[in-house]
Amino acid sequence: EKGGYPHFMLKEIYEQPKTLLDCIRGRINVEGNNIVLSGVIDNRDKFVRASRIIIVACGTSWHAALIGEYLIEDWCRIPVEVEYASEFRYRNPVIHADDVVIAISQSGETADTLAAVELAKSKGAFIYGICNVIGSSIARATHSGSYIHVGPEIGVASTKAFTGQVTVLSMLALTIAKEKGSIPHKKYEEKVQALKNIPALLTEVLKQSDKIKELSKIFTYAHNFIYLGRGYNYPAALEGALKLKEISYIHAEGYPAAEMKHGPIALIDTEMPVVVIATADRIYEKTISNIQEIKARKGKIIAIVTEGDTVVKDIADVCIEVPKTIEEFEPIVSSIPLQLLAYFIAVNKGRDVDQPRNLAKSVTVE
Ligand code: F6R
Repeated sequence: EKGGYPHFMLKEIYEQPKTLLDCIRGRINVEGNNIVLSGVIDNRDKFVRASRIIIVACGTSWHAALIGEYLIEDWCRIPVEVEYASEFRYRNPVIHADDVVIAISQSGETADTLAAVELAKSKGAFIYGICNVIGSSIARATHSGSYIHVGPEIGVASTKAFTGQVTVLSMLALTIAKEKGSIPHKKYEEKVQALKNIPALLTEVLKQSDKIKELSKIFTYAHNFIYLGRGYNYPAALEGALKLKEISYIHAEGYPAAEMKHGPIALIDTEMPVVVIATADRIYEKTISNIQEIKARKGKIIAIVTEGDTVVKDIADVCIEVPKTIEEFEPIVSSIPLQLLAYFIAVNKGRDVDQPRNLAKSVTVE
């Protein structure tokens, strides 16, 4: 049932070109110039008139939510707040009847996320679920929603669910943006086309696997890791750090790259590997300055770069290339090498990759 792979996690990492195709299929037309997320269209006015969108989630799903915030604010011009479900449910939040609350959960059974849904519902908000498990508690408790359709995720560390969640959030934001007219039509079509190409790009990026396996050996015995990214890649950095922590038990922290100088840079020395997502986007130059700051303090740089990069290649200790996509979809592409890096380091350490200690696939108790 692992399909010849040594672990479910590796199988699920490799499945991503197909799972994202399944996620997109039926929602995007063959020409790649139109997307229809039916749950959004069925509730068109709720989304178009929303004064605010609140996204509640935990763990990896919370990282996907952060990307959702960037996408929705960027394309739909609706203010978005992202909340840990566990905080939201206990902090007496302001919730209005014209708020849309999106709950993201792979399992659909996370106790805190379910409680956040019930709370928001009791205040009259419209609740939209983004789940993987069909018929799960959160899917049933929400007013409407979209499944990510990535198939069962068995490995405790979430991989294909994360990329599926970001893909659904992209389709949701594009559907709202089109309905609202908040994005020029030409731009809309460019984004739809870019999304359609993502599965093929993931097939490309998976070819880096052997290289990542090799370089993972250099870093297996590090005691700490820092992950950095800016913009859309900041949540990808958080997610990369979480993957490493969960399955290798190495302490890792993710930060927005520019936050380094506000404290974490004190940690940098020759013993500190720093994974930097430095793809060629609007803020590439800024990320390069952050890399130089780390290099000046003798940190070891593992950089995720866009194919053909020459600048970062000169500074970083190791580089992993990913194919070019639009900035908004970079975190989908850049999260693949980070999943593989965490996986191979954990395997090198002999960890129980699919069932890490102290973790459960569904956190049904708070
Ligand atoms: C990370 C991981 C957890 C879950 C979190 C939320 O790899 O597995 O952080 O993402 O427990 O779970 P769901 O999405 O099922 O609500």
